[in-house]
Amino acid sequence: MVSDETSTERRTDTGGFGGLRVVAFESRMAADTARLIERAGGIAISAPSMREIPIDENPATFAFATSLLAGRYDVVIFLTGVGTRLLFDAMETRHDRAALVAAVSKTCVVARGPKPVRVLRELGIPITVTVPEPNTWREMLITLEESAEGVALDGARVAVQEYGVTNDRLIDGLAERGASVTTVPVYRWALPEDRRPLVGAIHEIIARTADVTLFTSATQAHHVLRVARDEGLASALTEALGEVCVCSIGPVCSETLVELGIGVDHEPVHPKLGILIKEAGERCREILARKRAIRRQSRVSLAPAAAPPALDVADSAFMRACRREPTSHTPVWLMRQAGRYMQEYREMRARLPFIELCKRPDLAAEVAVTAARRIGADAAILFSDILLIVEPMGLGLEYVRGEGPSLSRGVRSAADVDRLRRVDPVESLAYVFDAVRITRRELDPHLPLIGFSGAPFTLASYIVEGGGSRSYVETKTFMYRDAGAWHAMMELIADAVGRYLCGQIEAGCQAVQLFDSWVGCLSPDDYERYVLRHTEKVFSALPADVPAIHFGTDTATLLDLQLRAGGTVIGLDHRTPIGAAFDRHGGGVAIQGNLDPAVLFADRQTIRDRCKRILDEVGGRRGHIFNLGHGILPATPVDNVIALVDAIHELSAST
Ligand code: CP3
Repeated sequence: MVSDETSTERRTDTGGFGGLRVVAFESRMAADTARLIERAGGIAISAPSMREIPIDENPATFAFATSLLAGRYDVVIFLTGVGTRLLFDAMETRHDRAALVAAVSKTCVVARGPKPVRVLRELGIPITVTVPEPNTWREMLITLEESAEGVALDGARVAVQEYGVTNDRLIDGLAERGASVTTVPVYRWALPEDRRPLVGAIHEIIARTADVTLFTSATQAHHVLRVARDEGLASALTEALGEVCVCSIGPVCSETLVELGIGVDHEPVHPKLGILIKEAGERCREILARKRAIRRQSRVSLAPAAAPPALDVADSAFMRACRREPTSHTPVWLMRQAGRYMQEYREMRARLPFIELCKRPDLAAEVAVTAARRIGADAAILFSDILLIVEPMGLGLEYVRGEGPSLSRGVRSAADVDRLRRVDPVESLAYVFDAVRITRRELDPHLPLIGFSGAPFTLASYIVEGGGSRSYVETKTFMYRDAGAWHAMMELIADAVGRYLCGQIEAGCQAVQLFDSWVGCLSPDDYERYVLRHTEKVFSALPADVPAIHFGTDTATLLDLQLRAGGTVIGLDHRTPIGAAFDRHGGGVAIQGNLDPAVLFADRQTIRDRCKRILDEVGGRRGHIFNLGHGILPATPVDNVIALVDAIHELSAST
């Protein structure tokens, strides 16, 4: 019997991949993975996609040791084998192992799966609770709640050894059950220092010289796409993966791949490396034959430029969050993500004045696409400006270096309003719609494109003041003195804005944002009297199934009224606490925000901490789109922007 099984095993091993080229993104177990692939008859292309960063001077580790020895924990949760070992190695540099083992043994010891179990046994630590497969945070919480050992979480002091990224869902779940949770981060993941093997593998996939890909964690999927984006190869990669056999270790990894626009062909019965490789070997030929046949058919029937996107953009994390559906990570994009803080943009600007750049659809598209790729955002925003719409109204527009926008004349009276021209966006702003079309075509197919416009009040403030303002005294004077002329002007603007946004949606935008940047200068009463109905008119002109983000700054007292005006997502600046906004409004709309853009000038740890604080405040509730509270400031270090996007992806990834 035993020998039968062994011989079957051997036949599969040699027959499996039958000489196909197999890319593995595994890092820590890269050598073992390659060996298993070769044993299964494949040619291994090892492309490590993650680097483990040991935290050398890890204050959390030593603080944990001190508290542990002082008997301050009731429950200690060990999430990974490697992390558990590292934690003890680090603590043993300062404390006696026997004392540590004795102290931890007095607590309720929880092991997430077989790997920490093994390490804990080696250390001689008795395990109170073991979590069943597939060992995610869900099973962890269920097991703790139902455990016969009766782990009372309410009021318990719980320490969680973290693995790589913070597991917010687990931590929130524990906190919701009344535990006070301390996280003990032991290591994190970064991109590998040497990215060449990974870039090489991406090229092989695109060239179709690789046949099978093996993803063994969700973070790998993010990293592979991230590197592809940096190389300008993201859409080529997702497209190529449509013809390659894609195998994923387990459900979380698969969910992430799908969200990133990569269809999964096979997931093994158990989330184990050996089983993944064995089953991939058994199934890959049949999968490849099917996928390649489908591709051939679609090539014949479709024009070459119209190849369908690998993922329906409607299923991207950003679009799902707009609809308040669950996502595998919190989507993030940043207002003014294309702008002067970025070298690529400054180079482009050295060649052309800003308005000219906006009027060159090909260049505007390049700026938008480059920015989204460079920072790894979950959405792109059209490259344009809210003020371009005032030109066809008959008001000359200029951008004065260092001073911002300036209009040739202000509108201060009923006679001035009468002279304003009605805007037909299709005729006068055609270059914007062209920019939308080109951006949509050039953009990674799964990335949503956000169109935008200024809201009636914010546009009116520029139109009346003739430029930016601190006090809006001219705007308010006009509003109070001649309400009739004010409403006539607002109506004219709202009508143009509604048609302008619809045009952008028709040209290919998946969502739109209405910037009411300066509306926070109004009292709720004035907002209701002079603004609400016009903003409402804009929103009611939009198709109901397209997410519309309603953004303003300094709007803490206006949110209820803004929501009455419309929008399916409300944008907050950094002055409004996002947790409270979720408590009050989160049941009805999605919420975007809200890190202070000035935090991007701080050190990386502070940036990360502030991001975490916002994610903690949101607490995993559906419908959160991460953004700044206002646009990126021009002197912001680009690396900090990238670090921010990475931090949000890492901190919010479900594991
Ligand atoms: O990635 C993006 O968000 C780019 C698209 C974009 C721009 N402006 C490009 C731009 C968007 C969405 C805007 C919106 C915008 N424009 C707003 C609303 C957002 C906000 O910050 O509240 C406002 C109020 C404007 C008006 C405006 N345009 C000002 C005040 C300025 C000068 C100050 C500044 O921040 O640069 C602009 C110019 C402008 N708009 C630039 C860019 C990239 C800089 C132009 C340059 O290269 O000099």
